[in-house]
Amino acid sequence: MNIGILTGGGDCPGLNAVIRGAVHAGSRRYGHTFVGLRRGWKGLLERETIPLSQESTYGILGQGGTILGSSRTNPYSRDGGPQAAVDAIRDLGLDAVIAIGGEDTLGVANKLHGDFQAPVIGVPKTIDNDLSGTDYSFGFWTCVQIGVAAIDRLQTTAASHDRVLVVEVMGRHAGWIALECGRASGADCVLIPEVAMSVDEVCAVLKARRSAGQHHAVVVVSEGVEFTSHKVETELDEFGHVQLAERGVGEFLATSIEQTMDWDCRAVVLGHVQRGGTPLAYDRSLGTRMGVQAAKMVQEGKFGRMASLRGEQVTDVPLSEAVGRLRTVPPAEYEDARVFFGA
Ligand code: F6P
Repeated sequence: MNIGILTGGGDCPGLNAVIRGAVHAGSRRYGHTFVGLRRGWKGLLERETIPLSQESTYGILGQGGTILGSSRTNPYSRDGGPQAAVDAIRDLGLDAVIAIGGEDTLGVANKLHGDFQAPVIGVPKTIDNDLSGTDYSFGFWTCVQIGVAAIDRLQTTAASHDRVLVVEVMGRHAGWIALECGRASGADCVLIPEVAMSVDEVCAVLKARRSAGQHHAVVVVSEGVEFTSHKVETELDEFGHVQLAERGVGEFLATSIEQTMDWDCRAVVLGHVQRGGTPLAYDRSLGTRMGVQAAKMVQEGKFGRMASLRGEQVTDVPLSEAVGRLRTVPPAEYEDARVFFGA
């Protein structure tokens, strides 16, 4: 079979491991051939391809980013886009498309399969770890490790200057990155989009810490956190998402804490640093397993489904299960993390 592979949405450490895994497993086990579609669904619509073979994927396992490029192109936001995507699959001679992406990219895959029975298979990709249908996405733990390493550094400079450091992390509308970065770095307060916390409540936590004789603190805030007194309009992308980083929630919180508590405060936005660079061994391994699974699913004709991690097992689930609703942090899990807030 001739298989197209694309990577869509924000990049993520481990994408190249998936590409390599699928190409090597598909070529060696089943005699599949592969072609890369450049920059997500854009490459399919514009028929921009690159050759993909075992040779061209040597040495990419530990590379960050994606050798295919990525974009947030949505065929369903363009006139005739979905039909053009299906026509391109036929005209490029593709028997299957492996779409590696998050809820947006996989949402398109799910619709193309539902509307046209397009032969698509999904692989879950997101540093946000917010996809249903899988326990973890590759790239998440690399992103958390980068965050923790940064916070460890910020702890020492905060201590030297008796400051509060507010660290804004990515994650969109799910607080997994903030929760795990905060938990693993021993942050003094963590704010996530799923559980509302006012500036006064954050200050109460910090006051308790100060009363216990501590002169510095680290607060982790997820970019998707909302405060009633902080409203910023931003542009929407093709999938209708706001650019959360432009809202500057970390800066807002730092300024508010400083004003309320008369405590020197700085904001740091980790942003895209958390997405770049070499993947951890875990994410290389999970990405490789996901790629092998995707090649197998093509061989077995499991279209309209997504590779998935359930416990220790790689398996597959319907795409509709993955894109139906966001996997957010359960309040009880956040409650357990709160034990470590403040003093
Ligand atoms: O979905 C991954 C993600 O990194 C989010 O955490 C973040 O909000 C968004 O992508 C940033 O997107 P962009 O790379 O387009 O700025």
